[in-house]
Amino acid sequence: MPPILSQCDTIAGMSGSIRKAVFPAAGLGTRFLPATKAQPKEMLVLVDKPVIQYGVEEAALSGVSNIIIVTGRGKNAIEDHFDVNVELESFLEQRGKSEQLEQIRHITESVNVAYVRQGEPLGLGHAVLVTKNLVGDEPFAVILGDDVIDATPPALRQMIDVFERVKGPVLAVERVPWEEVSNYGVVAIDETEDHGPRVHRVKDLVEKPARDAAPSNLAIIGRYILTPDIFPALEATARDRTGEIQLTNGLRHLLTQRPVYVYEIDGVRHDTGNKLGFLKALVYFALRRPDLADPFRRYLETLDLKIGANT
Ligand code: G1P
Repeated sequence: MPPILSQCDTIAGMSGSIRKAVFPAAGLGTRFLPATKAQPKEMLVLVDKPVIQYGVEEAALSGVSNIIIVTGRGKNAIEDHFDVNVELESFLEQRGKSEQLEQIRHITESVNVAYVRQGEPLGLGHAVLVTKNLVGDEPFAVILGDDVIDATPPALRQMIDVFERVKGPVLAVERVPWEEVSNYGVVAIDETEDHGPRVHRVKDLVEKPARDAAPSNLAIIGRYILTPDIFPALEATARDRTGEIQLTNGLRHLLTQRPVYVYEIDGVRHDTGNKLGFLKALVYFALRRPDLADPFRRYLETLDLKIGANT
């Protein structure tokens, strides 16, 4: 078990300004039923790793090693996954399977994981709010595990670098097709100010607007660097029509008190929270695996791509 990092600790020379990353993971995952009836959607596998591990590894590679996972009923597999499995480890050790042993040990040794229950599914803002006591009085990251981002440096690291410069909340954004804006929180930015490459100051935010009402096609994607004043802002945020507390609405409240920034990530994002996005991510990551890329590409090339549900 690694020691809990103290405020001044750094990893590989990285600044320790952000030490904690919150992973909301209490959702029911209804889009993937029946696969998610008895298994959390965060544990769906991309090649050979559960989706949530991609985000946890991104945090660790970004120098953030304290992970707070917001869970709910039926999510025990996530806790088991990030825990030491003594029986499995001694089995692999006895059989001399050192590569596999290293693979399962690496992630448990890289991070400290704490869990908090959301209790009721009252939205993303509420999921962040339940981490208030674990986060305490310091800036922190929020990672939505559905968004898997392939980037160098890692997406969260890019954002921390921006945070250290602008010294305010930073939200990851991406331009999306206009017909998709209603799936996202959307931001209006101030185009007159210069905050450096890919960085803008937010003028307004709106959660899942209709296409005609969207102030832009700059959509918030699943990475946030937040400051602890988000907690009182969320506490003061009214529930929406569906009874949920939206993080976007909490940020809108915060905007009346301090500047908030967005950063356009330099990388490739996959939304694995829907079936098509999940399938695209699976193919993308399989083709990036040295042990699978060539035979998998050869297999894909043999496929008759005209075969489909309508033929
Ligand atoms: C949430 C946020 C939304 C954001 C999106 C990114 O929506 O509420 O503002 O754009 O994540 O993935 P959800 O996808 O949980 O409905």
